[in-house]
Amino acid sequence: MAERVVKIGLLGSGTVGEGVQDIIFGDGKELAKRLDCRLEIEKIYTRSPKSKHWHDKFPDKFTSRPDDIINHPEISIVAEALGLERPEDAKLVASYIIKALQAGKSVVTANKAVLAAYGQKIHSAARKNNTQLRFEASVAGGIPIIRTLGEGLASDNVTGLYGILNGTCNYILSGIRNEGKTFTDALRQAQKLGYAETNPEADIKGYDTRDKIMVLLQLLYGIFVKKDDVATEGIESLEKIDFDYASRKLGTNIKLLGSITRSGGEVTATVSPIMINDGHVLSRVNGALNAVLIDSRHCETMCLVGKGAGAGPTANSIVSDIISIASGAHFGPCAAPLKFNRHLDKDGLYRYYLRFLVMDRAGIVSDILGHLKNNQVNVDEVLQLKHSAEEKVYFREKLGVKCDPDKILPFIITLDPSKESAVNKAVKQIKAKGQDFMLIEPVVIKILPDLPDVTGV
Ligand SMILES: NC(=O)c1ccc[n+]([C@@H]2O[C@H](COP(=O)([O-])OP(=O)(O)OC[C@H]3O[C@@H](n4cnc5c(N)ncnc54)[C@H](OP(=O)(O)O)[C@@H]3O)[C@@H](O)[C@H]2O)c1
Repeated sequence: MAERVVKIGLLGSGTVGEGVQDIIFGDGKELAKRLDCRLEIEKIYTRSPKSKHWHDKFPDKFTSRPDDIINHPEISIVAEALGLERPEDAKLVASYIIKALQAGKSVVTANKAVLAAYGQKIHSAARKNNTQLRFEASVAGGIPIIRTLGEGLASDNVTGLYGILNGTCNYILSGIRNEGKTFTDALRQAQKLGYAETNPEADIKGYDTRDKIMVLLQLLYGIFVKKDDVATEGIESLEKIDFDYASRKLGTNIKLLGSITRSGGEVTATVSPIMINDGHVLSRVNGALNAVLIDSRHCETMCLVGKGAGAGPTANSIVSDIISIASGAHFGPCAAPLKFNRHLDKDGLYRYYLRFLVMDRAGIVSDILGHLKNNQVNVDEVLQLKHSAEEKVYFREKLGVKCDPDKILPFIITLDPSKESAVNKAVKQIKAKGQDFMLIEPVVIKILPDLPDVTGV
């Protein structure tokens, strides 16, 4: 019997695109032994073919025209691994994906930013043209989270998902907690090792995690929201002092979590730094690793941990999607969308940590407590660590605090489980009234003591 050949067009030949070429050109024969077909890269689109690793060996496969792939009659699967040099490029990349789907090709994409912004149009084009859209590489790189949710848990009912989805942030937070680095030094180290971009905004402000959470909302619940609908906070205001309080006073660690929770027919999603108990499986995920904790009705709690980025893991996810399509498997986003609620502001979902840096003078703590009380927010404890002279000089210099270091007073207040809206209102009032004593804006971190865990690990 003649060998079945599946022809692939590859848009993009950067880190991930070359990783895909390495697997298919390098391991193609080995793969063919395991599959009932041979994968063949027919064309590769890049603006600079001659600079590419595999160009010398396969010059005819390279093209500088994306249409050579989108309109190619024999290509049945398009793998999209284009970067976005400017945010506006998302529209162009979305148009390539949609045109390929309209031409009857299946598409595999690594691009969470494009799916977050244009997911509804893209999924709809796949449905209308009866083709497949796969996006395993777009969330958590090498961790097979999309297939776990879309296939592995297809008969289950996911009620909660908590993800460490950005390796750069996790690397920075681990550096502060485990090596006592300042935020600035941990970020610099991440940039030196290539984990963080020169402009790290999308990572540290939580936007990258938000895009991934939006991709998961689309898959799990058929929910397509706008970026602003997902309340998003980054890690840029966290400092070593917060990790000192977290570990020495509260027995917790701080992680940037993308969270999705379902309550009945309603779903909410947020991205923010969260304090979780030391010893919790997510608290122990360090460095640039990613992790996803899933809570579901039948399987209860499971956790997947692994590499969230890099040529090898990400390219593996793309090629695995290609293999899955070639073998005839099929799955898509939930067909009956649930309702999305930006604020499921349920009483008692979170406890809170408030960190203040004030000018040392009488009456400040009681003023702050007064505002909390007026908003029916119950205080658990007021706590203060001993701060070294060095630490106070750091506050003055790095945080731009204009004050005699001896007069700087850091302290924290922890709150009982409270409504987020009430906490936000109280903090807004404290900020407004505290202009003359507050040295920098208070830092608010949610504490999630009841996060489901996988025990016994
Ligand atoms: N790197 C990772 O670990 C990782 C992990 C998960 C997901 N992803 C996703 O995978 C995709 C590719 O990432 P990457 O790290 O491989 O990026 P990269 O190394 O920067 O490569 C980007 C590729 O896209 C092309 N490109 C960028 N802007 C373009 C434009 N305006 N028009 C045409 N081509 C353009 C580049 O073209 P030239 O070849 O012409 O220079 C290059 O081939 C992104 O969506 C990224 O979010 C990456």
